[in-house]
Amino acid sequence: MDDLDTVADEARTAITCAGDKQALEALRVDYLGKNGRLTALLKGLGKLPAAQRPAAGAVINECKREIQGLIETRKGQLEAEEMARQLAAQRIDVTLDGRGRGSGGIHPISRTIERVEDFFGGIGFETAEGPELEDDYHNFEALNIPAHHPARAMHDTFYIDSNILLRTHTSPVQVRVMASASPPIKIICPGRVYRCDSDITHTPMFHQVEGLLIDEENNFADLKGLIEDFLHAFFENQSLPVRFRPSYFPFTEPSAEVDIQCLNCGAEGCRVCGNSGWLEVMGCGMVHPRVLEMADIDPDRYTGFAFGMGVERLSMLRYGVNDLRIYFENDLRFLEQF
Ligand code: FA5
Ligand code: MG
Repeated sequence: MDDLDTVADEARTAITCAGDKQALEALRVDYLGKNGRLTALLKGLGKLPAAQRPAAGAVINECKREIQGLIETRKGQLEAEEMARQLAAQRIDVTLDGRGRGSGGIHPISRTIERVEDFFGGIGFETAEGPELEDDYHNFEALNIPAHHPARAMHDTFYIDSNILLRTHTSPVQVRVMASASPPIKIICPGRVYRCDSDITHTPMFHQVEGLLIDEENNFADLKGLIEDFLHAFFENQSLPVRFRPSYFPFTEPSAEVDIQCLNCGAEGCRVCGNSGWLEVMGCGMVHPRVLEMADIDPDRYTGFAFGMGVERLSMLRYGVNDLRIYFENDLRFLEQF
């Protein structure tokens, strides 16, 4: 019984001082477990004279219950303390400002296309679209580029099979619109085009905006005036020098390529303009009568002009970007500047 008092006192002190639930559990095992100290005392009852055993057993059991109760109480306290600590640490100040997510931006290529659409939309051109997977007929044949025509070699085409290809320009959209609508036609067709080509001014995928106007009265002077007005508006510079260079496209006659004075060097000659002082931004011309005929449009009654511009080229010049490939690397440090 002396042992019992000592063990019980020790247990009371230890339980009150237990700093966490693991320590408490260790104490429970130590005193009440199968090999615990109080359990050992119970086991020792056999050594007492038989008459004393029931009374001693009752006292030890009473002590066990007390210790059990103390452990439960301490456990409750520890859990409450733990909860209070967690609540204090996780407190949310609902009055703080949110962190926000920053807003995305419009890709410079999309911005450029929007600028082109704004200009032409403002003077009555509608936007038309066509498939990026084209057939030979729309990409070449109907544009007066029959099989074995040498102009096909200029197009570095990605073929899917002998008939299906990734369109090499946006001109096939002209063909599709002419087949389904009748004049007057005034459209622009922005979109992706593909050519097997890659260096600082060429990427295998790039964008063009095609333009097509067909009605009863128009001529090369109208085309020239429209393109000049567009380029002056696009670059917000009314005196930007623009020149038309005779060129060749099977689907237009006469044809021209349009250059603007290099904005990077001001015509001094630099890497961007290949030291020529000029930059080609589009091809254009009067729609070839054969192209009109193939679309069932009477070439004696109607005439038309068409143009096709390189969107990356315009965008690079407008935003002062000197490497085309950076547009498609999706580096946020670049994109965030727009
Ligand atoms: C054409 O693609 C003709 N379809 C344009 C046309 C339309 C002429 C209607 C007449 C009437 P070209 O291959 O020159 O033409 O390309 C037109 C423009 O696309 C070029 O002036 C250039 O700005 C751009 N371009 C051409 N190839 C690439 C390339 N690999 N990467 C980036 N831009 C390019
Ligand atoms: Mg060209």
